[in-house]
Amino acid sequence: MTMLEIIEKKKLGKELNREEIRFFARAAAERSVPDYQLAAMLMAIRLNGMTDAETTALTLAMRDSGDVVDLSAIPGIKVDKHSTGGVGDTTTLVLAPLVAACGAPVAKMSGRGLGHTGGTLDKMESIPGMRIGLTEEEFIRQVREIGVAVVGQTGHLAPADKTLYALRDVTATVDSIPLIVSSILSKKLAAGSDAIVLDVKTGSGALMHDLESSIHLAEIMVRVGTMAGKPTVALISGMDQPLGTHVGNALEVKEAIDILAGRAGGDLKEVSLTLGGHMLVLAGRAKDQEEAVRMLEHALESGAGLRKLEEMITAQGGDSRVCRDLSLLPQAPVRKQILCGRSGYVNRMNTTALGLAAQAMGAGRMRAEDSIDYAAGYVLQIRIGDRVTPETPLCELHARTEADAERAEAAIRAAITFGDSPSERAKNFLAIVNRDGVRRL
Ligand code: URA
Ligand code: CA
Repeated sequence: MTMLEIIEKKKLGKELNREEIRFFARAAAERSVPDYQLAAMLMAIRLNGMTDAETTALTLAMRDSGDVVDLSAIPGIKVDKHSTGGVGDTTTLVLAPLVAACGAPVAKMSGRGLGHTGGTLDKMESIPGMRIGLTEEEFIRQVREIGVAVVGQTGHLAPADKTLYALRDVTATVDSIPLIVSSILSKKLAAGSDAIVLDVKTGSGALMHDLESSIHLAEIMVRVGTMAGKPTVALISGMDQPLGTHVGNALEVKEAIDILAGRAGGDLKEVSLTLGGHMLVLAGRAKDQEEAVRMLEHALESGAGLRKLEEMITAQGGDSRVCRDLSLLPQAPVRKQILCGRSGYVNRMNTTALGLAAQAMGAGRMRAEDSIDYAAGYVLQIRIGDRVTPETPLCELHARTEADAERAEAAIRAAITFGDSPSERAKNFLAIVNRDGVRRL
């Protein structure tokens, strides 16, 4: 078997067998064939697609291209959660401590920011002293002791994805359903959990901008996850505006703490409780979603969730006093309040552009080697559907310099469309997909 024969077959739109797919995944992991052949193969997959059987085989082959974490030393059903990426989306920092406070172990490996989207690891590193690079042993011990850990990938997980993801980024082959499914699920399956809750974003800030393709992506992920032996549920959630009000690393940690302290509500809280509820149900801790959400609300109101976050920060070397004193988080030197400047209604937001505005302020990386300004970002004070006057606050900028603040103001204004007629509020959830099918909400 040669890589050239496999490319030829996929070019003609034929179905690859398991051995051919394993050959391709191994070649990517070991870099034993030239990048131009891997790139040609990626484009053939992007143009001709894959059957469910091929996508499953590719996912499993990519999972098996490296280590698979063994979480069996942690008692109970371990449920993982994965979001496909968003702006102002800090659900992990809200739900991980709450779910753990309700008795379900949370052993979570998260990622860094990518493009216009934020990453949990970067947010956590805005907490002074916080370590995200635990060894597998430390990771397992911490979950056994306090019920929760959120860390970077331990060991050598899904190296085939590392190679392929970097090539997809520079060959216009990111937007391929079989490549997205195998990329996300190979890493989730290698991370060792027993069940998976997927948060598939849809809208102007998501990987998939329209609902039908988001549902299609979710259906295939649920099918492949289930075939791989992990009960999988996917929620389609809206990304037509940033999920939380805070965008930027330390600002998003602040919003998560505000929610856990009972001072803030809104869409981030609702989405976190819903996703966390599905985790508790899959973990066998609640009989249904209603009971699960009640348990999470109770953990929030009693302060158990905030105490669990403090325990997690302390266990990972961080300064947990941030949970009681937000001024210990990094603070930006320039703060500027922006007003709407007109009357009307908030009709639309270009959420990708809003994410890029925060990235340009220093909240994200332009190049892999860039460092992050943890304090940079903004607090968005309007939602789609709001009625505004010229004096209504639009956002509070947290910038390194006046010039950064001015550029951000222009970018944020350009990303928001006001109109004279009202528009409907954006929905948080549009559909739920499980092994029984799709339910539209
Ligand atoms: N996130 C991933 O890890 N892979 C993709 O292909 C898309 C989003
Ligand atoms: Ca996220």
